[in-house]
Amino acid sequence: MANKINVGTLISGGGTNLQAIIDACQSNLIDAGIIFTGSDTPGVKGLERAQKANIDTFVVDYSKIIGSCKKGINDSDLPEDFNLDEILSKQQLVVSKASKEQRAFFLKTRAIAERKLLDKMLAYDMDLLVLAGFMRVLTPYFIDRINTEPGLYKIMNIHPALLPSFPGTDGYGDTFRYGCKIGGCTVHYIDYGEDTGPIIGQKAFEIKDNDTLDDIKKKGLEKEWRLFPQCIQKFADSLNK
Ligand code: GRF
Repeated sequence: MANKINVGTLISGGGTNLQAIIDACQSNLIDAGIIFTGSDTPGVKGLERAQKANIDTFVVDYSKIIGSCKKGINDSDLPEDFNLDEILSKQQLVVSKASKEQRAFFLKTRAIAERKLLDKMLAYDMDLLVLAGFMRVLTPYFIDRINTEPGLYKIMNIHPALLPSFPGTDGYGDTFRYGCKIGGCTVHYIDYGEDTGPIIGQKAFEIKDNDTLDDIKKKGLEKEWRLFPQCIQKFADSLNK
C-alpha cells in the first residue's frame, strides 16, 4: 500500500462530505487519514462526526470575529505579516464596484480569522487541506501560507454545480432556477478567485422535469460523496508517484 497522506479538513455545517471522507479513510478505500477538522461555526453536526471518529477539532468563530471587527479594527488586530496592498493586488474575490475601504475591511476581517485558522492548523504535518462544505472564501493571505511549494496546489474544494457554470454559494439552487436538465458537482483546487481554480473531477446527474430543488440536492450530494474521496486519491497518487 502507498504512503498515506495527511488531510486537514474545514467545514461549516452538517459534514456529510466529511463523513464520506472519514468512511473512505477508515475502510482504506483511499490512501489518506484526516488529522483535524476545523469549523467556522460552533456546534455544527460535522464537528460531532469528527469527534466520533477521534479526529482533533477546533473552531474559529467567524461571525464573532466579523462582529467585533465591525466595531473597529486596530492595526494591532491584524496579523504581523499582513500586507494590505499585496493582498488587494492578488485577490479576485471582491468586485471592483466595492469601494477600496469596503474591500480593505473585507480582506482585513478575513485575514484576522484566517490567521487564527493558520495558528491552529500549522501545528499539524499536513499534505492537503480539504474544504468539505466550508462556506467562507479564503484570501491570498491564507492561500499563500498553505501553497508554499511553487506549482503545487494544496487546497481542495467541492462545489455543488458543474463549474464554470454557477460559481458562488448556491450552485444547486442556481442550477434549479435556470431550468438545467443536467446538474452536477465539481472538485477543484483553490486559487485567488471564487470557484475558479483548476478542476480535479466532476460528476453529473440528470434532472427530470418534475424534480424539486430538494431532489436536485439529494442527487448532487450522493455524487459528491463519491467524487470527493476519488479526488483526494488522485492527489495522493500524484504525491506517491
Ligand atoms: C455541499 O453541497 C457542498 O458542495 C457545498 O456545501 C455542501 C456541504 O454539505 N460546498 P455537507 O456539510 O458536506 O453535508
